Amino acid sequence: MKIQVGIITVSDRAAAGEYENLGGPLLCKAADGYGWAVLAETVVRDEVEQIQRAIREQIAKGCHLVLTTGGTGVAPRDVTPEAVREIADRELPGFGEVMRMESLKITQNAILSRNLAAAVGNALVICLPGKPKGAVECLGFVVGAIPHCVEVVAGVPTSC
Ligand code: MTE
Repeated sequence: MKIQVGIITVSDRAAAGEYENLGGPLLCKAADGYGWAVLAETVVRDEVEQIQRAIREQIAKGCHLVLTTGGTGVAPRDVTPEAVREIADRELPGFGEVMRMESLKITQNAILSRNLAAAVGNALVICLPGKPKGAVECLGFVVGAIPHCVEVVAGVPTSC
């Protein structure tokens, strides 16, 4: 199955145009490199409702996988994990565990990231850190599990 992806940049400053959205386009490039089709790209503020709406809209467009970048840290405005948990059917803790474990080999600040993944309806949502390089790195640490996970969450019959 060709994985259809949506990408959401969560950043007050990027949404206000105060800061160039580098993370979204970099994740698009990475998704393209993995052979996935990017169906939607959105920039939202660090607001629970905006994040949830963007995720739901991308899933309604047919995205099997939604990647968010930003808002996973410890700043008062960082609410991406809370937004996703509220609409999650089930959380998949292994993704966050692996992302933090591998990222810690690169930066001690990885301990600050509340990276997570969850099944929302028939889609897999993965929350990546806001730093463009960190987002692509974290995606790379879990990419091996994504195709199977997407198929299972989407209800596609699989061989294992
Ligand atoms: N993970 C990787 N692989 N590489 C990084 O550069 N940056 C960290 C962390 N995880 C980073 C990383 C930093 S500096 C922070 S503050 C947290 O992710 C949270 O980032 P966010 O609040 O922008 O989502």
